[in-house]
Amino acid sequence: MSSTLFRTKKVEQSILDTEEPEHALKKSLSALDLTVFGVGVIIGTGIFVLTGKVAKQNAGPAVSLAFVVAGIVCALAALCYAEFASTLPVAGSAYTFSYASLGELPAWIIGWDLVLEFALGTAVVAVGWAGYIRSLMDNAGWHMPASLGGRDEAHGFGFDILAAALVLVLTCILVLGMKLSARVTEVVVAIKVTVVLIVIIAGAFFINGDNYSPFIPKSQAVEAGGSLKAPLIQLMFGWAPANFGVMGIFTAASVVFFAFIGFDVVATAAEETKNPQRDMPRGILGSLFVCTTLYVAVAIVVTGMQHYSKLSVDAPLADAFKATGHPWFSGVISFGAAVGLTTVCMILLLGQTRVFFAMSRDGLLPRFFSRVHPRFKTPHRPTILLGVIIAIVAGFTSLSELAELVNIGTLFAFVVVAIGVIILRRTRPDLPRSFRTPWVPVLPIVSVCATVWLMVNLPTETWLRFAIWMVIGALVYFLYGRSHSRLGRQEETTLEQVTGEGPGGKQL
Ligand code: ALA
Repeated sequence: MSSTLFRTKKVEQSILDTEEPEHALKKSLSALDLTVFGVGVIIGTGIFVLTGKVAKQNAGPAVSLAFVVAGIVCALAALCYAEFASTLPVAGSAYTFSYASLGELPAWIIGWDLVLEFALGTAVVAVGWAGYIRSLMDNAGWHMPASLGGRDEAHGFGFDILAAALVLVLTCILVLGMKLSARVTEVVVAIKVTVVLIVIIAGAFFINGDNYSPFIPKSQAVEAGGSLKAPLIQLMFGWAPANFGVMGIFTAASVVFFAFIGFDVVATAAEETKNPQRDMPRGILGSLFVCTTLYVAVAIVVTGMQHYSKLSVDAPLADAFKATGHPWFSGVISFGAAVGLTTVCMILLLGQTRVFFAMSRDGLLPRFFSRVHPRFKTPHRPTILLGVIIAIVAGFTSLSELAELVNIGTLFAFVVVAIGVIILRRTRPDLPRSFRTPWVPVLPIVSVCATVWLMVNLPTETWLRFAIWMVIGALVYFLYGRSHSRLGRQEETTLEQVTGEGPGGKQL
C-alpha cells in the first residue's frame, strides 16, 4: 500500500498532460506579466491593514525588521519554488512539485492545503476590501445597514454583500480568460503601487524622529496562560509569550507573513507562461524583491509618522496621514487600498482554481472539473464552483478568525516544496533545470527551519484548525482520490499488460 501512496508522477508525464488539447491552458504570459501578477497579489491586506496592528501589539517601530525576517523566509522558499517552477512548468504549484518528487499522498496533502490557503485567503481579502469600500462610502455619507456588513459589522447575523459581490464579479472575469484578467490586473497594480509610493514619499516629510525611540520596545510578558491563543512554541517549551523585544519581532513576523503570501501563486501560472524556464524564476524573485523593499519602507515611514502605540488597527496607513493633519492623502490611500485589494483577491482566486484544476486532471478530484472551456480556454467549472463557495464564505466570515489559518497553510507548503527540491535533485538529477537553487541541500534545509520557526510562532488554535482541515482531506483522498487517481489507473493498465491479468487477476 505504501508504494501506491508514494507513487510519483513522472515530470515528463506532467508536461505531456498539459499538451492534451481538451485539458490545455493558453500560453500567453511573459516575465513582466508574472511580476505584475506577483506584485498584484502580494501587496494587500498585509501591508494596508496588518502593519498597524503588529506595530502596536507586537513589535513597535521594529515592525520593519519583522518584514525583513518574513521577507528572508519567503526569499529562501522562493529560491526553492523557482527551481521547481522552472523544471515543472505545469499548473498546480506546490501540488505538482510534490507529485513529482514526494509522491501522491504528500501531493494530495499539499493540494488540499493550497485549496485552504487560496480559498480562505480570497475570502479574507474580499472582506478587507469591503471594509475599505464601506469606509469610503461612509466618507461620502452613504451608510449601509449593519446586517449587510458581515459578521464583524453586525455583531450577530450579517452577510457581507460587498465582499460576496466582489468574488462573484472576479469569478466572471476569470472565466472569460487569462489575458483579460492580466490587463485588468496591470491597471490596478499600477494604482496600488502608486498609492504605496505616495505613502513612502509624502509620508517621509511627516516623520518625527522621536517616534523611533525606542526602536525595539522593551519585552513585555503577555498573560496567555494555557489558552489555545498562545503560540505553539510556548505550549511546547512552557515559555511565557512576550510582546515587543527581540522575540516580539518574530511573533510579528509570523503575522506579517500574510503580507508576502502570493509570490507562490506566480508559480501556479507556470503552464500559461510563454517561456517558463526563463520567466518563472524572474517573475517569482522579481515580485518578491519589489514587495519586500516597499514593505520595509512603508513600515519605517508609518512608524515614524505616528507613535506605534497610537497607530490605527483598521486603516493604519490612511489614519497616519489623518493624524498628521492631511486627510486628503488619507482619502487617496483608502481609495488605492480598495482598488489594490481587488487584484489580490482575483489572483488568489486564480491560484485556487488552477490547483483544483491540476488535482482534477490527475483524477484525485472528479475529472469533470478539468475540461477547459472550448472558447475561453479557461477551467470554467472549478472557477465557477469555487467562486460561488468563496463568495458565500466571504459573506459570512470574520476576517481575524481565518487570516492565521491562511498563514499556516502557506508555510506548510513552503516546507514541502523545500524538501521536494532536495528529493528531486536525488531522484531526477538528469532533468533540465534552467534555474537551480543554490547550495542544495543546505539552503532548502535552512528554508525548512526558518519556515517552521514562523509556524511555531502561530497560535495553538490555528494548528488545531489546520489539523482538522487536513483530516477531512485525508478522508476525501482515501474515499475518492486514491481509487480514481489517473496515475494509479495507468499503473494498473501497465501491470495488466505485463502480467496478462484482468482487473480481477492476482496481485503481484
Ligand atoms: N499578501 C496578500 C495580502 O497581504 C495576501 O493581502
